[in-house]
Amino acid sequence: MGDPRLLRVAQPVTRFATPQLAALLQDMRDTMAHLDGAGLAAPQIGVDLRVVIFGGMSNSRYPDAPAVPDTVLINPELVPLSDEEEEGWEGCLSVPGLRGWVPRWRCLRYAGFDEAGRRFERTVEDFHARVVQHECDHLDGVLYPMRIRDFRLFGFTDVLNIPGVADE
Ligand code: NI
Repeated sequence: MGDPRLLRVAQPVTRFATPQLAALLQDMRDTMAHLDGAGLAAPQIGVDLRVVIFGGMSNSRYPDAPAVPDTVLINPELVPLSDEEEEGWEGCLSVPGLRGWVPRWRCLRYAGFDEAGRRFERTVEDFHARVVQHECDHLDGVLYPMRIRDFRLFGFTDVLNIPGVADE
């Protein structure tokens, strides 16, 4: 947090199934695994492209989190399916050591492309919807602290002592 590359509106991917895209995704997977994250967006490693990955969390580390499939999502579009919001704890690999209580749309439909350029869409809710919104915010230069409404619910992970919250 504080790096201007996290505050840009990232550029769409225009070419799929390239060695460059494969290398970027490998870098992102390695980074996410090394830092034990639940998701990662390309701007978090300084790359100005609309690419996010998420999912694959183990049940032991995040016992309360329902399974989210391992996903590569490129040039995403998000559409909320109702006005209903849900608040929950979030962390972020770009905001280490902290957690905040963040409102998100509870249900949404998202669409985008996989690394081969195949379009797909999903209708999701709750934790899956939260992860997608967090990651896609990174593509518009938005970090989760910018969405916190009650700053009494923002603090150091080891002081807050919240179980089962992943960094995204
Ligand atoms: Ni994040």
